[in-house]
Amino acid sequence: MSPEKRKKKDAGNNQTITKKSDRISQDHQIFQNRFDKFYDEIKWLYCELYQDVPDVMGYLKNLTEGMLGYYNGRKASLKESDLRREADPEWYKRNDLFGMMLYVNCFADTLKGLEDNLDYIQECNVNYLHLMPLLASPKGRSDGGYAVADFRQVQPDLGTMEDFAKAADACHKRGINIALDFVMNHTSEDHEWAKRARSGDAEYQSRYFFFDSYDIPSMYEQTCPQVFPTTAPGNFTWLPDCEKHVMTTFYPYQWDLNYRNPVVLNEMIFNMLFLANQGVDIIRLDAVPYIWKQLGTNCRNLPQVHTIVRIMRMVCEIVCPGVLMLGEVVMAPDKVAPYFGTPEKPECHMLYNVTTMASTWHTVAVRDVSLLKRQIDILASLPRTYIFQNYLRCHDDIGWGLDYPFLANFGIDEAAHKKYLNDFFTGKWPDSFSRGELYNDDPRLRDARLCGTTASLVGVERFGFEGNRPKVNQAVKYDITLHAFMLSLSGIPVLYSGDEIGMLNDYSYKRDPDKAADSRYLHRGSFRWDLAENRNTEGTVQYQLFHALDRMAHIRAAHSVFEAEVPFWTLPTWDSAILGLVRENEEEKFIGLYNFSEYDKVAWINEQDGMYLDLLTGREMKASGVQIPAFGSYWLLHKKRKV
Ligand code: GLC
Repeated sequence: MSPEKRKKKDAGNNQTITKKSDRISQDHQIFQNRFDKFYDEIKWLYCELYQDVPDVMGYLKNLTEGMLGYYNGRKASLKESDLRREADPEWYKRNDLFGMMLYVNCFADTLKGLEDNLDYIQECNVNYLHLMPLLASPKGRSDGGYAVADFRQVQPDLGTMEDFAKAADACHKRGINIALDFVMNHTSEDHEWAKRARSGDAEYQSRYFFFDSYDIPSMYEQTCPQVFPTTAPGNFTWLPDCEKHVMTTFYPYQWDLNYRNPVVLNEMIFNMLFLANQGVDIIRLDAVPYIWKQLGTNCRNLPQVHTIVRIMRMVCEIVCPGVLMLGEVVMAPDKVAPYFGTPEKPECHMLYNVTTMASTWHTVAVRDVSLLKRQIDILASLPRTYIFQNYLRCHDDIGWGLDYPFLANFGIDEAAHKKYLNDFFTGKWPDSFSRGELYNDDPRLRDARLCGTTASLVGVERFGFEGNRPKVNQAVKYDITLHAFMLSLSGIPVLYSGDEIGMLNDYSYKRDPDKAADSRYLHRGSFRWDLAENRNTEGTVQYQLFHALDRMAHIRAAHSVFEAEVPFWTLPTWDSAILGLVRENEEEKFIGLYNFSEYDKVAWINEQDGMYLDLLTGREMKASGVQIPAFGSYWLLHKKRKV
């Protein structure tokens, strides 16, 4: 190389070096700016939470150093996505997110299989995919993957962590966001920490709740209700090998983590950041209300839970601001909204609309929309910045957490009503169309919950079995109407995989000794690819459902009136079985009408603002005295004149 050429090359190298170091410092500056914005509050909350812990600042330092490490380890593509989303913080609040939740093994056996079937996911219009727990979890003691033995390893049957990151990458390239559970309340008894605790290591025992005698556990039991009263009674488990009691709110093999130990919080945050760095866009905080325990309380929704969630939110804002937090708060309505935090100090980005889900099924059973209407009125009064995730079914049971004080006005008694709902949905009630199964029937409290797929709960199973075609069609119509209702609610709609093709209950779980005791497996069957094939054969159940959902997803994405921040309210229809829902912005007015009865009816609305288009059928009509068929629905849209 000539000296001149070498000179040029060196200059070039130097230039790249300078550029690179510029980039590094710029990159670091981004972290620093975010850190400076939140550090004081993190410090404040951390010190408050751990005020009794000697060397609290040492633990805080460990946390913040770890955060920088995870920031530095974050891929360039994810950092770019963070910046894009930071510049557009409302990105998830519009009308274009459409979700689906699925078990990788049920859907496509492995993560590789999932990647191979992303075309189908896109055909379902899904751009937000919640993959059910897929981290290492012992067979037969996994609670559907919710007993995690290693937060950094994928279940070997599904693939590896590299496969996961690759699948996430493939999804991102197609514009699909990935949600993953972060099971933070407990670990599996097979987790490294649990094993060490079990072998007598006191430091690891302090990461859980270990007791020598039953004295304190018995005091907890007095105020702490049970989550699985039948399948896993009690909140503690006796460990004969080490002669200790350990707290197990859920199954005996799920040991509750003790967040009073700052090591637990730090390490769990690092696990969360590790998953975020694999490409997770939405972290589902599993069972989050339970993470702080206090003797003498019900050990749910304690103030410290909110402190921790807020800390986690700020950690994400600093390290991975493109990542959203979805709180799994399956609690009474007044306990749910606080998990959004305040506008100045937000906690979760999104929460499940669990009360609306349960109220919808209640409405199916009673054919009276009063409770649902009230529930929507309550939602309408909440700030529009609260983003709910709407759904009809998910992997869990339906718990009857309804507004009983309101129902009492109608003379409805809680225990008797739960019995009616369960009788109705298990098909015990005379001529009920539903085919569900009870879940955790607690005869003491008469508080059973319910399992089953949407199609089985609305009659497709019963009438299909009876060979009653007209009734099957009616059941499919109802299925579509319930989805139409769900999709028109404010927030993000999420389908339960299989519902788009009307999958029925799968009773085979009863033959599997690992699953037989847990009836939630009724609606966790293998995806029926054979039935999915029918989606393009006119006249089939699959065709009807699949195309109706496809149409609605497109409509939803095409009209600004479905954006989450658009105001909505209920419209009186003067018929107790018909729900009227209005959404209105400057451009459009939408009226959703939903008939929850088996009779053709008239919705006695009388909107005088001109012609409406029924988006579902393309028919022009007036929004007054609307005839609505049994179990039918309308999505009426009025285009406003531009001022
Ligand atoms: C959540 C999950 C549920 C699981 C429980 C314990 O509620 O949705 O399936 O059993 O947490 O992890």
